[in-house]
Amino acid sequence: MGAGRHPDYVSGVKGTVVQASASGKVILLGEHAVVYGRPAIAVPLSGLRATATLTPHPGPFHIQAPAVEVDAPLSELPPDHPLARIVYLTAEHIRRPPPDALLRIESDIPVASGLGSGAAVSTAIVRALAAWYGVPLDPPTISALVYEVERIHHGTPSGIDNTVIAYERPVHFIRGRPPEPLPVGATLHLLVADSGIPSQTREVVGDVRRHWEAEPARYEKLFDRVAEEVEAARQAIAQGDARALGRRMDANHELLREMGVSAPVLDRLVEAARRAGALGAKLSGAGRGGNVVALVEESAAESVEGALRTAGAAHVWRTDIAGEDDAKAASDELIMTLPVRERSLRGTMGRSNLPSA
Ligand code: PMV
Repeated sequence: MGAGRHPDYVSGVKGTVVQASASGKVILLGEHAVVYGRPAIAVPLSGLRATATLTPHPGPFHIQAPAVEVDAPLSELPPDHPLARIVYLTAEHIRRPPPDALLRIESDIPVASGLGSGAAVSTAIVRALAAWYGVPLDPPTISALVYEVERIHHGTPSGIDNTVIAYERPVHFIRGRPPEPLPVGATLHLLVADSGIPSQTREVVGDVRRHWEAEPARYEKLFDRVAEEVEAARQAIAQGDARALGRRMDANHELLREMGVSAPVLDRLVEAARRAGALGAKLSGAGRGGNVVALVEESAAESVEGALRTAGAAHVWRTDIAGEDDAKAASDELIMTLPVRERSLRGTMGRSNLPSA
């Protein structure tokens, strides 16, 4: 199950330009509680991608990532810089030196918004280096390498970001276990709205830890209640029962509020989505800023999207997670409409060309 078997992720061979990409992600339910061993559900955002391009270059290995103002030889970056770290980790794992090449990183995924930008960039780099050397790496291996970099971003990541992105499929996830695939009974229509306020995962996860240490019984109970919502949501997703799933998402948002990780801007977006007819809505990711995710009936997508914009969303992405039947009929295609509808992206989240979990 090598990188080379994923034509949608990787193109090119050694000696030519090699390009690899990785998707963003959104957590549907279970954030925070997942750090404490409870289950969570996440789906890839296959239309939003980070891309790593390796171009032959008369050494030494050079990294360009304009979005984070990096343009330097690898040796000049601190070894714990996330971009340097993933290159060293991958090189060590495949037992090859960083090649004489220029690595350029580009990404559509907004940073610090809970959409997995860091994990997607790392995943794209691992895939590109593996493809350059023609070394097959399977999703569990890619996920484990990327996890090491996630630890730089916050000390105790659950591993959900690297997992859903390395597998690029909907997952039911419990920390420390292989992910379970998530059967999707009927297509889920989702809207992801960016509050425009950065979400500092490390700080919010740290705050939750302090609260948990101060009031362990209360927080354990909250995490247990989240776990109940996640398990019920998993069933609803399998049965194609969008209404039931929406109720579980609403309940999960209330629990996140009780945990202290929401913010007025997120509550306002959630309320706006519900009032405009969303079946359910909640904050997604670490909270305080970042994104909300709303589940809609297809017919309501337009009006909920408008309501989210009116309520102040900086961007709204629309994404469909294909149900079993639709997936077969449409070759598992995912359609994502970008905010201003300037362009429409078709990404593939096909089970057909993905490894089994
Ligand atoms: O990176 P974010 O903002 O999607 O947050 C990750 C989700 C948390 O559950 C809050 C942390 C974790 O490691 O799972």
